[in-house]
Amino acid sequence: MTLPRVLLFGAIAGAFLSMQAAAPQKQKSLSSFDPQVKALLAKMTLEEKVGQMTQPDQASLKDVADIENLALGSVLSGGGSDPKAGNSLEAWTNLYDGYQKRALRSRLAIPLLYGVDALHGHNNVIGAVVFPHNIGLGCTRNPALVEKIARITAIEVRATGIQWTFAPCVTVPQDIRWGRTYEGFSEDPKLVKTLGEAATRGLQTADLSDPLSVLACAKHYVGDGGTTFGTGMGGKSPLDQGDMRVDEATMRRLHLQGYVTTLAAGVATVMPSYSSWNGVKVSGSKQLMTDILKTEMGFEGFLISDYNAIDQLDKDYKKAIGISINAGMDMVMVTDKYREYIKGLKELVQEGVVPMSRIDDAVTRILRVKFAMGLMDKSRSQLADRSLWKSFGSAEHRAVARQAVRESLVLLKNGKKTLPLKKSAPRIHVAGKNADDIGNQNGGWTIDWQGISGNAMTTGGTTILAALKGAAQGQVTYSKDGTGAAGASIGVVVIGEKPYAEMQGDRKSLALDAADVAAINNVKKAGIPVVVVLVSGRPMILGDVLDQADAIVAAWLPGTEGAGVSDVLFGDYKPTGKLGFSWPKSDAQLPLGTGNKADVQYKIGYGLKY
Ligand code: GLC
Repeated sequence: MTLPRVLLFGAIAGAFLSMQAAAPQKQKSLSSFDPQVKALLAKMTLEEKVGQMTQPDQASLKDVADIENLALGSVLSGGGSDPKAGNSLEAWTNLYDGYQKRALRSRLAIPLLYGVDALHGHNNVIGAVVFPHNIGLGCTRNPALVEKIARITAIEVRATGIQWTFAPCVTVPQDIRWGRTYEGFSEDPKLVKTLGEAATRGLQTADLSDPLSVLACAKHYVGDGGTTFGTGMGGKSPLDQGDMRVDEATMRRLHLQGYVTTLAAGVATVMPSYSSWNGVKVSGSKQLMTDILKTEMGFEGFLISDYNAIDQLDKDYKKAIGISINAGMDMVMVTDKYREYIKGLKELVQEGVVPMSRIDDAVTRILRVKFAMGLMDKSRSQLADRSLWKSFGSAEHRAVARQAVRESLVLLKNGKKTLPLKKSAPRIHVAGKNADDIGNQNGGWTIDWQGISGNAMTTGGTTILAALKGAAQGQVTYSKDGTGAAGASIGVVVIGEKPYAEMQGDRKSLALDAADVAAINNVKKAGIPVVVVLVSGRPMILGDVLDQADAIVAAWLPGTEGAGVSDVLFGDYKPTGKLGFSWPKSDAQLPLGTGNKADVQYKIGYGLKY
């Protein structure tokens, strides 16, 4: 072999080896931990097994000693379930460490999994970076960015010691009047499956035992976003927790895709939905939870119920427990009734209603995850790594969030090339209720379950107004109602929605509110160009604003880094966003669903450039 060829051979071999070395390790299958699981299971009493299947909210604990005395498998902080010591990085970390130390005092010292809804950053904790909600990330069409955001979220979650987030939400909303539309990436399952997989990889990495890996949870299985208008909350709300009325082929084609890809990415927990499919509650459906997800799709992790979701299965709570566990639920998220749940499930086993084999299967699944995560490794501390505090809310993390905001914005209209704004404009007049409000930028699931208007995120966030002021060379004035715009070079009116979550966001109409329309009119009356920025959890009916505005930008729920909006408005970043949802002309067109045939205002994929 002549010298040049041996060099060529060496180069090819080197490239191959480096590719091999670079290829991410494949997550070991969860069932590969079964030998250790079986050994531990054999030592466990029925009480300890049922304890592992129980997840109370920490705010509902009647006695914190229940953690060790009942050998609880998990504890969560639902929305608003904050440390009594207050909402700070330190208080959250002390909360986690305190509960974990108790779990380690239980007879078998099986550590707790602590769960939170870190959906767009570690959004419960003041000072965390809050990223755009999924509806905005869908418009980036950027899986690598979504993965990076999830990775940063995981690091900020781990800074508090917490190791489990109830994310990614891989819902495929078909009716945007639903209060959880913004938790979805898109109405299109192709986009949801890609971004859901990316988020899972970012959260868990390829190795659940990595101390910076955070256990992910694909939710809400399955068809949470496909419910029929008017069936929500048993008819008490338009859509949330309603009934999805489609055939199995449609269920699989539209709503199952996110589970195909997140399972392939190694997601180790799945949360069944409150909603129903053709009248059957998912949380009590053996076909969905066992036959399809576990048997057909081979899911080896565990199912965690939604918050008190099993209560809806039967008015007799004990019966409800039996229905859900026998259908395949493995761990139950239960608040005040956790002691009753434990008592009821033990009785059901003793009465033969729930076979011990089902209990052993559930506990096996839970322990697989705990072994895979290194929780059972006695050589490792299970307490928080406080060295991670130094990157919590860091400028580096905020820079990624700002980039996400830039890429999430969609330019809907730009008449007479009104945008980009000129930094040299003598005066820009800003108006609208969402111009100077971090809470409204963040939306729901931030600091509190329903979110909080105002500037509760007191550290680090930037409102859109503050960002515009920081970037402009001329004067920037502000009035919420749009008065005082006369004489300005241009008006920017930031309107949209106030925060909400779940059923509290269900709407019959998506019309703009009167105050927003009035603010636009007031700026229009000044006879200057008008730029409308919509900060909302979904497309809204623009109506007359379509003609009144010279330019319109959809900013979704951008989170703390409002500077990303200013970057696009001034052209420091040229808009690249594409709609993840069809945009209706009127309420009458709803629901649009996927691949709508209607003559919509803007089709999915629409987005202008400068
Ligand atoms: C809520 C939501 C779910 C969340 C859980 C815990 O009701 O439906 O998405 O993860 O409870 O907060």
